[in-house]
Amino acid sequence: MAADVAPTATLLDWLRETRGLTGTKEGCNEGDCGACTVIATDADGARTLNACILFMGQLDGMAIRTVEGIAGPDGALHPVQQAMIDHHGSQCGFCTPGFVVAMAAAHLNGRTDHDDQLAGNLCRCTGYAPIRRAAEAAEAAPVPDWMRDAPVKGAEGSDGSEGGAKEAPSHGTVSADWGHRDSLAATGASAQGDPGRAGAGFRPRNADALAGWYAQNPDAVLIAGATDVGLWVTKGLRDLGQVAFLNGVTDLQRIEQGPDGLRIGAGVTMTRMLEAMTDRHPSYAELIRRYGSVQVRNAATLGGNIANGSPIGDNPPALIALSAMLHLRRGDARRSIPLEDFFVDYGRQDRGPGEFVEAVTIPDGPDILRCYKLSKRFDQDISAVCGCFAIARDGGRVTAARIAFGGMAGIPKRARAVEDVLLAGGTVAEAQEALARDFTPLSDMRASAAYRIEAARGMIARACADSPLHVLEVQP
Ligand SMILES: Cc1cc2nc3c(=O)[nH]c(=O)nc-3n(C[C@H](O)[C@H](O)[C@H](O)COP(=O)(O)OP(=O)(O)OC[C@H]3O[C@@H](n4cnc5c(N)ncnc54)[C@H](O)[C@@H]3O)c2cc1C
Ligand code: FES
Ligand code: FES
Repeated sequence: MAADVAPTATLLDWLRETRGLTGTKEGCNEGDCGACTVIATDADGARTLNACILFMGQLDGMAIRTVEGIAGPDGALHPVQQAMIDHHGSQCGFCTPGFVVAMAAAHLNGRTDHDDQLAGNLCRCTGYAPIRRAAEAAEAAPVPDWMRDAPVKGAEGSDGSEGGAKEAPSHGTVSADWGHRDSLAATGASAQGDPGRAGAGFRPRNADALAGWYAQNPDAVLIAGATDVGLWVTKGLRDLGQVAFLNGVTDLQRIEQGPDGLRIGAGVTMTRMLEAMTDRHPSYAELIRRYGSVQVRNAATLGGNIANGSPIGDNPPALIALSAMLHLRRGDARRSIPLEDFFVDYGRQDRGPGEFVEAVTIPDGPDILRCYKLSKRFDQDISAVCGCFAIARDGGRVTAARIAFGGMAGIPKRARAVEDVLLAGGTVAEAQEALARDFTPLSDMRASAAYRIEAARGMIARACADSPLHVLEVQP
C-alpha cells in the first residue's frame, strides 16, 4: 500500500476516519484520558501509547494493536476482557476499550502494579475498584498466543516497498513501514482533506543526519514524543509545516556512564528515565513515576521536557539540583552549559536557530536528592509546585545545598537565597523567609501565588527535617 497519509495526521484520526477502526475512542484528544490507548510493538517490546497525540510519522517500524485485536481471531475473549465482564468493570463502556488495551499490555508485560498501569485511563461511571479487581483476576492467566506480535522490520529490514501504514500483519493490528526513507511526503486524502495537518516529515536515523538537516532547516519543528507538539495540532489546530521525527534517532536514546557522570540522550523516554533513576536517585524516580501516565511516559522524552522551556516541567528542577550539564549541538558545533543557564526567561531559552538538545549529564555522587511534587491529582497531573533539594550535611551542619523549584517563576529556577541561609547555618524558619527573595510566583489555574509560597515553605521544612517519606513514595 502506498503512503497515503500525512505524517502529521494522528494515528487516532487515521484509525477512525480512514480504516474504520472505531473501537479506539476519542475522549479528551490531549493525552489525558486513555480512551485512545493502543499497543505499539517494535524491537524494544510492547508498550501503550495514546493514539490521539501520536503522529503517523512516529510509527515507522512499529506494529500497532488496537482494541479490535485484543480478542482472538476466532472471537475468543482475552482474559482481561472476560475479567471485566466477571467483575462488572464497565457501565457506559466509553472508557472500556482504552482500559482493556492498557490492561492487556500490562498483562503481556507481566505488570501487576495496576494502579500505576491504569493511572492514565479515566472512567466517569464505573469507579475504579471493579476495574482493578478485573486486572487482578486476569493476572494468572497465560498470555494468549495472538498477543505476541512479531515486531515489524527494523531499520535495516525494509522490504523496499513504497512504504506507508499497512494492513494487519496479524488480526487487529496495523503496521507502519515507510520503507525507511528519510523523507515522508504528505500525500493523499489526509493532506487534501486537512491541510492543517499536511507537511513534509524528515526521519533522521542518527544525530549527525539530524544536525546537518536542522542547521539547514532551523525553522522546522522537531517532534520527539509529541506529548507537547501533539496538542499544538489537536488543540491549537496549528499547521506544523516542516517537521523532523526524532524517535528513529537511536544514538539520542543512549544512557551511558562516562567519566563525568551519567550521560542521558535527549531521546530517552520518561519510562527509561524512571528505570535509570530507580537505584541512582530513588526520589527522582518517584517524581517520574508521577509524571503523566504510562502512556505519556512511554512517549515523552527528556529532550522535549527540557527544550519546551516549561516552568512546570518535572525534570528540570531535579536535574538543576543535581548540577546537570546540558549538551547542545548545531551542525558539527557542540557546547555544554549548566542546565540552569539554559532557562533564560519565560518562553526564552539559550538555544540558537538550528540547535538541538543532544544529551544531559548527571554528575556522579552520593544520593542526597529529595523531590517533592504537588499537583491537584496524585497521578497524571502536571505540578503546581515541584521542589528538588540536594542538601549535604555533616552532623547537623549543612555543607552543600542546591535547591530548585518548578512552578514558582517563569522558569525552573534555583532558590539561591534559601541555599545561602542553609549554608550559613540559618534556621528552617529563616530559610522559609528567604523564599520571598527568590520567588514572586504567579496565580494561575493550578494554584494561587500565596498557595505556591506556602507549599514551597512546607517543602523546605520537609527537606530540612529529611522526614520519613510519604507512604506512597519510594523509601530511599
Ligand atoms: C497527558 C499529559 C501529561 C503530562 N504530564 C506531565 C508531567 O507530569 N510532568 C511534566 O513535566 N510534563 C508533563 N507533560 C508534558 C510533556 O509530557 C512534556 O513536556 C514532554 O517531556 C515533552 O517531551 P516530548 O518528547 O513529548 O516533546 P515534544 O512534544 O515532541 O516536543 C516538545 C518541544 O521540544 C522540542 N524538542 C523535542 N526534542 C528536542 C530536542 N532534542 N532538541 C530541541 N528541541 C526538542 C520540540 O520541537 C517542541 O518544541 C504531560 C503532557 C501530557 C499530554
Ligand atoms: S483521547 Fe484522551 S488520551 Fe487520547
Ligand atoms: S464505563 Fe462509562 S466512562 Fe467508564
